[in-house]
Amino acid sequence: MTIIDGGRVSERYSGMAMALHWATAVLIVANLLLGLSMVPLPFSPRKLQWYQWHKWIGVTVFLVTWVRLGWRWRRPAPPPVAMPPWQRKAAAVTHTLLYALLLATPVSGWLYSSSTGVQVVYLGLVPLPDLVPKDKTLAGAMKAVHLALNFTLFAAVCLHVGAALRHHFVDRDHVLARMLPVLRPKGTTK
Ligand code: HEM
Repeated sequence: MTIIDGGRVSERYSGMAMALHWATAVLIVANLLLGLSMVPLPFSPRKLQWYQWHKWIGVTVFLVTWVRLGWRWRRPAPPPVAMPPWQRKAAAVTHTLLYALLLATPVSGWLYSSSTGVQVVYLGLVPLPDLVPKDKTLAGAMKAVHLALNFTLFAAVCLHVGAALRHHFVDRDHVLARMLPVLRPKGTTK
């Protein structure tokens, strides 16, 4: 879809879209690493702190994703870069899957926390309602769902990053440049 920006057709993502994209990327990588590191820790104040940070980052990802979807609705993505139709379709499917996982993965963590009887208190300030009552069987199931969603998110991110790097270094088009504030796609001035 074409964006008319100040009378010109913009080929790039907006500054806000880039900021939200890269903020999400940092949060996702940090939370995947935190999630993997906190589980094997022995029971300690540090372990409890890391669990809290993991939950806060997850809730932040959930909130930022809604802001991002709202922004995208107001300012659609720039027109697609020329590429074979199958690649365009694959990108659309992957982006939709990523958005769905950015919403579903934090909710699965929230459900898991509720089912173990631990309330999530966002940033230590905002108590979130328990989504389900404490239930050991449900907690086991939610743990499996949360792990599966995180694994799928990791796989989708790897695919997504691989495609972005391939576009940049092999196809040498401006797919990556238009999502990077520091690179200018050839032929654009802003
Ligand atoms: C780590 C977590 C990441 C997530 C969850 C994520 C998610 C997304 C999503 C949902 C979009 C679609 C934007 C739209 O609505 O049009 C997107 C676009 C894009 N992402 Fe990521 N991304 C991540 C990391 C990265 C990384 C590390 C790179 C680069 C190496 C990258 C490169 C891009 C590019 C180039 C686009 C624009 C694609 C296009 O113009 O069609 N992303 N990303």
